Amino acid sequence: MRESQHPSAVSGRLNTAVAHNARVWNYWIGGKDNYEIDQRVGDQVATMFPVIRDVARADRRFLGRTVRFLTADCAVRQFLDIGTGLPTLDNTHEIAQRIAPESRIVYVDNDPIVLVHARSLLTGTARGATDYIDTDVRDPDKVMQGAAATLDLDQPVAVMMLGILNFVLDTDEARDIVRRIMASVPSGSYLALTHPTTDTDLGGEGNVEAMAFWNENATPPITARSRAEISSFFDGLDLVAPGLVSCSRWRAEPDSGPVLPQFGALARKP
Ligand SMILES: C[S@@+](CC[C@H](N)C(=O)[O-])C[C@H]1O[C@@H](n2cnc3c(N)ncnc32)[C@H](O)[C@@H]1O
Repeated sequence: MRESQHPSAVSGRLNTAVAHNARVWNYWIGGKDNYEIDQRVGDQVATMFPVIRDVARADRRFLGRTVRFLTADCAVRQFLDIGTGLPTLDNTHEIAQRIAPESRIVYVDNDPIVLVHARSLLTGTARGATDYIDTDVRDPDKVMQGAAATLDLDQPVAVMMLGILNFVLDTDEARDIVRRIMASVPSGSYLALTHPTTDTDLGGEGNVEAMAFWNENATPPITARSRAEISSFFDGLDLVAPGLVSCSRWRAEPDSGPVLPQFGALARKP
């Protein structure tokens, strides 16, 4: 963490009167780093959209499976985890460094509460490295400049974008962000992504009302997308089997629970 990013320099950005995504997500996962307003809004969303807690937990399990797969089966040793969220039981660096202690991880988020907790994300192994960048994904050049301080951008990088492009409301802008980030990493790099959907075959119709409520009562504003829109984020990349599926079903055990309206996929840059 750079000096300018020290929590004391930014704690004025913390707003405990409005529900924030990182804290509500933490609440749905069962964490303790949230405020009453986050719990109230989180409960209201769960009333309108009862699977939301399952979505949040399935998303975290997808993170675990993709990081294990990338580290153990694909020999990836560098991770750029954008939209980190609050530290929880198993974070990217812990999963990767358990398998390969030399793994290097850069976290990126723009939420002040995540920055306050960033120190717990920075306790890597002696052989590996972790860093945290407090910045907005909508400035991908700044993200990549920051990442280059810790990651060797001539070697493959796994770019993790779980539950974050849904906060970039314009689909062309979201696609451009992915394109620019993936253009900055070499062949053999990967993109892992999860994203909420409105597709009815995954039960996504419930997202519409819940997201409208969220956008009136919480921050930052969110959007869901169709399978075709989410697929387009992987243009030019080779999807790893089983492709774009409910994140609960991606390389999961057969009894891994129901299909959920949150797509997940992993793709390799050829
Ligand atoms: C739904 S949480 C997902 C957390 C984690 N990736 C996971 O899958 O469990 C989304 C995270 O993205 C962060 N985020 C939202 N918009 C962002 C932006 N424009 N730039 C950087 N981070 C952002 C939020 O602060 C939050 O921590």
